[in-house]
Amino acid sequence: MSQILRDARKYEEVTEKKIADEARPEFHLSARVGWMNDPNGFSFYKGQYHLFYQYHPYHSHWGTMHWGHAVSRDLLHWEQLPTALAPDMDYDRDGCFSGSAAVLPDGRHLLIYTGVSKETQPDGTVCDVQTQCIAVGDGMDYEKYLGNPVLSSKDLPEGASRFDFRDPKLWITSDGSFRCVVGNCDGKKDGRILLYSSKDGFHWNYEKTLIANQDRFGKMWECPDFFELDGKQVLLVSPQDMLPQGLEYHNGNGTLCIIGEYDEKTETFTEEQNQAIDYGIDFYAPQTILAPDGRRIMIGWMQNWDTTNLHSSKRPWFGQMSLPRELSVKNGRLFQKPIRELETLRRAEVRYEHITFTDILKLDGIKGRKVDLELSVHAGDKQNIYKKFAVRFAQNEIYQTSFSFRPYESTLKVDRKFSGSRRAIINQRRSYVKNVDGEIKLRIILDNFSAEVFVNDGEQVLSVTMYTDLSADGISFFADGSVTMDVIKYELRGR
Ligand code: FRU
Repeated sequence: MSQILRDARKYEEVTEKKIADEARPEFHLSARVGWMNDPNGFSFYKGQYHLFYQYHPYHSHWGTMHWGHAVSRDLLHWEQLPTALAPDMDYDRDGCFSGSAAVLPDGRHLLIYTGVSKETQPDGTVCDVQTQCIAVGDGMDYEKYLGNPVLSSKDLPEGASRFDFRDPKLWITSDGSFRCVVGNCDGKKDGRILLYSSKDGFHWNYEKTLIANQDRFGKMWECPDFFELDGKQVLLVSPQDMLPQGLEYHNGNGTLCIIGEYDEKTETFTEEQNQAIDYGIDFYAPQTILAPDGRRIMIGWMQNWDTTNLHSSKRPWFGQMSLPRELSVKNGRLFQKPIRELETLRRAEVRYEHITFTDILKLDGIKGRKVDLELSVHAGDKQNIYKKFAVRFAQNEIYQTSFSFRPYESTLKVDRKFSGSRRAIINQRRSYVKNVDGEIKLRIILDNFSAEVFVNDGEQVLSVTMYTDLSADGISFFADGSVTMDVIKYELRGR
């Protein structure tokens, strides 16, 4: 084991003891210590889910990337394991960037990741050279492959940038061979996804450009994922620098889901529909797993690159993952539901039926920061539909975060301006939602520092973090007009 890896393991073991459990989310995975970004290597190995993540243990801001590592049996109770990868080889000395995992036929756990090494150019500028590398292990300790890198500039098609070539996502096909998609861009910084194949997971060949952005969705495409779901083919990707289109793609570095058809023989992807994956503020770089029971489950990094530099460097940890979500495709759209295991964390049910109100409403027993809240909202008067409905949470006299629905616009807005930020700039986002006569269903999951709302059984999801002081635990409702509502609320206990 290298000294760099040994140092990281020692450091995290000592430092994590200084972080109280209560200062973390209860059932969302957060950085063991320091900084966390993208989920990596999401896989099921030796009876457990493994989730690795982009990790800089020494600081709560981004730095030279390691791979953090956690395991879970239900994707809600996580156990942190020692750092899996450290930047300790010539080809990854400036970072072990994102990648994925698979189980080899001989039972070993294979990781594929992007190795980064800086190179000074003839004009004096310094660029990151990015190659794809392999490490193999037993679920705890990983050894880097002697043949690394397994994909480098010689494996790129003409015109491809070797400085933006990252985030391999691999899978094993029905004939036992391997495929892998990698994010890349051309000389003009226009994103595309390259497809590679391998017989054994170690020796890779360039197949083709699977899809090119052609200047439509942002610039460089990061963190691709590509899979079959409900008879359709789905590409998930996180484009940088997106230009908003209507209410889609507002997050700068945002998320994109393209649904289409795939011809496996010719490996041709035909696009049909596109949409954002998440319509909130904090969601990026999601990765999926095909769970042993056949569910396609997705986890994203629940932060946004444009707001990650606002926190103090004294914070002991920064960065959390989204709730794991079960995916499906219905009527050409991606649907997401919280994993069903979440229901095992429910405690202390509180129920209200058919409550009609026209202004501010507070209900006994409805408060908290670890909450599963189901709301069915209707117009109190169908002839005269209300103008606005809002649910406000993480609330006290000073603070609140809210979801508000305006039936006449058919929009749902998240607003976390009043969550303690002294930089209340990027704090709102709206999504179109289905709306017949002011009816909407919201399932809101709160976990200390985050809120995720699943709209109309998962047709849209809006995720947001809020680092509001935990003493702000009020929940209230607001109606402009007459609203009739059913409420079911549970506390969620993950520890
Ligand atoms: C996406 C990303 C990846 C890269 C990693 C570096 O958030 O920029 O493309 O591998 O983060 O930490």
